[in-house]
Amino acid sequence: MKIGICSDHAGVEYKAKLISYLLGKGYDVVNFGTDSTDSCDYPDFAHPLGKAVEKGECNLGIAICGTGNGMAMTLNHHKGIRAGLAWNTAVGKLVKEHNNANVLVLPARFISYQMAVSIVRAWLSTQFAGGRHQRRIDKIPV
Ligand code: RB5
Repeated sequence: MKIGICSDHAGVEYKAKLISYLLGKGYDVVNFGTDSTDSCDYPDFAHPLGKAVEKGECNLGIAICGTGNGMAMTLNHHKGIRAGLAWNTAVGKLVKEHNNANVLVLPARFISYQMAVSIVRAWLSTQFAGGRHQRRIDKIPV
């Protein structure tokens, strides 16, 4: 399982810690940056992650910015991406079970790091339920 991960400056600290966490759990991790706390633009990091997940170079992705909205908005422009924002463990589970999010988006400025780990664990350990949720996902493209 290869997980791509990216952040802007607001999420860089959580990204570094999550990379260590994921490596410790045996996942392959591809870091798409940023690796600096200098102010930067989230699309510059979201697009490379989105392309890698679309192409199958990464199985899943995690994107982190201040609110999560910039990353989610950018990633959801990619045809093969369902980027879902989660702010607690229950939503982390449901964003996979109901929405089959292949990119998990985290709002670093609004959750603790402990909550970020709990969300990641819930999302990774949950299976997509399919059925009526697949029918709804099929209706998303415009
Ligand atoms: C950066 O200040 C902030 O705007 C960004 O991390 C994110 O919240 C945007 O959606």
